Amino acid sequence: MTPTELGLPAMRQATTRDPARPDDPRLIDRYGRVATDLRISLTDRCNLRCSYCMPEEGLDWMDRADQLTDDELIRLIRIAVTDLGVNELRFTGGEPLLRRGLEEIIAASAALDPRPDISLTTNGVGLARRAKALADAGVNRLNVSMDTLRRERFATITHRDRLADVLDGLAAARAAGLEPVKINSVLLRGVNDDEAVDLLRFAIDNGYELRFIEQMPLDAQHSWQRAEMITAGEIMEMLRTAFSLEPDRAERGGAPAERWLVDGGPAAVGVIASVTRPFCGACDRTRLTADGQVRSCLFARTETDLRALVRGGVSDAEIADLWRDAMWGKLPGHGIDDPGFLQPDRPMSSIGG
Ligand code: 5AD
Ligand code: SF4
Repeated sequence: MTPTELGLPAMRQATTRDPARPDDPRLIDRYGRVATDLRISLTDRCNLRCSYCMPEEGLDWMDRADQLTDDELIRLIRIAVTDLGVNELRFTGGEPLLRRGLEEIIAASAALDPRPDISLTTNGVGLARRAKALADAGVNRLNVSMDTLRRERFATITHRDRLADVLDGLAAARAAGLEPVKINSVLLRGVNDDEAVDLLRFAIDNGYELRFIEQMPLDAQHSWQRAEMITAGEIMEMLRTAFSLEPDRAERGGAPAERWLVDGGPAAVGVIASVTRPFCGACDRTRLTADGQVRSCLFARTETDLRALVRGGVSDAEIADLWRDAMWGKLPGHGIDDPGFLQPDRPMSSIGG
């Protein structure tokens, strides 16, 4: 059992400030990066069971009492936006639509000054009836995870027969003006790796923007194998059998996706090559788990317990400073391709995408 599971703030990093950290209000690190994009996991629960993420029987979900309440979470978001220079919020899960109070959390975030850009990563189940309310609450953009267009395959990958719901959810998001609606797809060898071209054609025909994500070692079962994963290089090769792809000249910034214009544009496809072409040097992200732990990276092996501070009557200024400390300790990269790489204890579903 990890200290986090025991509810102990044992993984908290130094509470004394490193004298080398400059007096800068933002979330800076030793490598010159500034975190302005906060990814917030609202729950570790999910209504799908994607094989590359969690076992069919699900996981031992976090106790509700360990989860930040809406008010605690909104306070941390306010500190991030008003004191730490965060200007982008992305709500994730597990599945964020399962979080009660989602629309209220979004509306409170949208009311902050300066108003952050707000996006959501969802599996799309249940999105059809929520898209309009989410847009009204203040969501600007939305990513939907969908790895296949074939109903039976969808059921094999996710252990749930819900492809039709996801397709309805995509259409509802587009109708609610949450554009560009992005689709995230993970290709798995021998499972859906023959669908790269079909997925892109579907996205283009329907006005969605597709992004392929290389499978990362973040599954709860620890079954990821470097030799098994479909690489960005392979994806490009498959797409080039049907489309011409040229690099999008637009500034990439901290965006994880390399964008390619399809058949001269304006349609585009993104490839997120986290493993084979890591983009850690331009990373502008910081992460907050549903139980109030700051993670400086998806692959971080330490966490900083903000929930203990929130529940301990600590001031906004002190919380902000501990968050700065956490980011100052961010490592230069994830090292997935290094021989000594160790997968983090928390699975993706509890960290947030
Ligand atoms: N590797 C790559 N992507 C993953 N996702 C979930 N687990 C993994 C993994 N191990 C994707 C989901 C979703 C986004 C949040 O991350 O499909 O689109
Ligand atoms: Fe749920 Fe996302 Fe994990 Fe699939 S990848 S089981 S949709 S949290």
